[in-house]
Amino acid sequence: MLDRLDQQPPDALLALIKLYEADPRADKIDLGVGVYRTGEGGTPVFAAIKAAERKLVETQDSKAYLGPEGDMGFVRALMPIVLGEGASTDRIDGMQTPGGTGAVRLALALAKRAGIKRVLMGTPSWPNHAQIVADLGLELVTFDHATADGSADLGALQAALAAAGEGDAVLLHGCCHNPTGVDYTDAQWDEIAKLLSGSPVLPVIDLAYQGLGRGLDEDAYGVRKVLAAVPEVLVGYSCDKNFGLYRDRVGALYVQADAEALGRIMSNGLALARATWSMPPDHGAAAVRLVLEDAALTAQWRDELTQMRERIGEVRSTLAGQGTAGAIDLTPYGRQFGMFAMLPLSKEQIQSLRADHGIYMAGSGRINVAGLTTGNLGKFTGAIAAVSG
Ligand code: LMR
Repeated sequence: MLDRLDQQPPDALLALIKLYEADPRADKIDLGVGVYRTGEGGTPVFAAIKAAERKLVETQDSKAYLGPEGDMGFVRALMPIVLGEGASTDRIDGMQTPGGTGAVRLALALAKRAGIKRVLMGTPSWPNHAQIVADLGLELVTFDHATADGSADLGALQAALAAAGEGDAVLLHGCCHNPTGVDYTDAQWDEIAKLLSGSPVLPVIDLAYQGLGRGLDEDAYGVRKVLAAVPEVLVGYSCDKNFGLYRDRVGALYVQADAEALGRIMSNGLALARATWSMPPDHGAAAVRLVLEDAALTAQWRDELTQMRERIGEVRSTLAGQGTAGAIDLTPYGRQFGMFAMLPLSKEQIQSLRADHGIYMAGSGRINVAGLTTGNLGKFTGAIAAVSG
């Protein structure tokens, strides 16, 4: 039986990590997978997380099983960050998941159990979104995420929602859109919340970069607006970027529904988790909980996150300030948010950047803006000019 399986290509984004590592050139530039990088090109562990990990080693007295819900102290401690300080949680419950991917996977599996058959999604999107939808046997219905001038295409979303109905979900990026960096404006979120409040379409929001765009509260504007307007919402959350815990896989699924139905809905989430991963890994979530339970560590984490956001903003302004590189207009990147931007490059140009210049980016033309530093930005724009000019 097993030898009937066809060969599958490795995940293109993750494969880039190994290709980059194998390149011996000293001046190579990694703009591939979405991990934050400092001005020196490193991805250090947050100091607040290191301190929490030390505390964890000292105080944790058992590693016995928790349960499919994971660390509920973590899930609750994160709620004010996601929902806003003092926000009502009467109709919201959550559970820990293995990273944001686990959260999106569980959200869509839960939606499928509840009768969802199709998922509307703006494209381009994070490639794993479509893979998860396909793996769950759901139908993907796409619409354009962005307009040609690099702003979010609200009209395309409106049209997709107008043509949708019972049995449909819409998958939205809460902030720092991956791969384009093109976010809905607050005014557009107001409109989206209004549209969804009168629609049978179930919103599923992927919030993977909170704090890396405009600020912790600002980046949650859309999520909070939709939660306030729509009775049933699923939010998949990732701490992998904003706490720098990538390989520790720290995420959560939040469910908003009728208070009376919430327990029943969560029991389905727990059953799905038990059958899929049994329970999420503990270490990273416990470290996040220890940060959020300690005012000084929380302040330190916020400061570290602010520094990251400001550095990403500076790289964006510097890029935009250069005007153009060859045929590429760099100015829109100054108006966009988060770690990612899409360069309108052909497959051949992307290949030439890799082979001739040692610059690694996703095959879609997505770059990780955080991979650019004062030391390599000149080389980057020079190479873009060389391949596109
Ligand atoms: C990315 O888009 O680079 C990150 O979300 C990492 C991943 O898992 O794809």
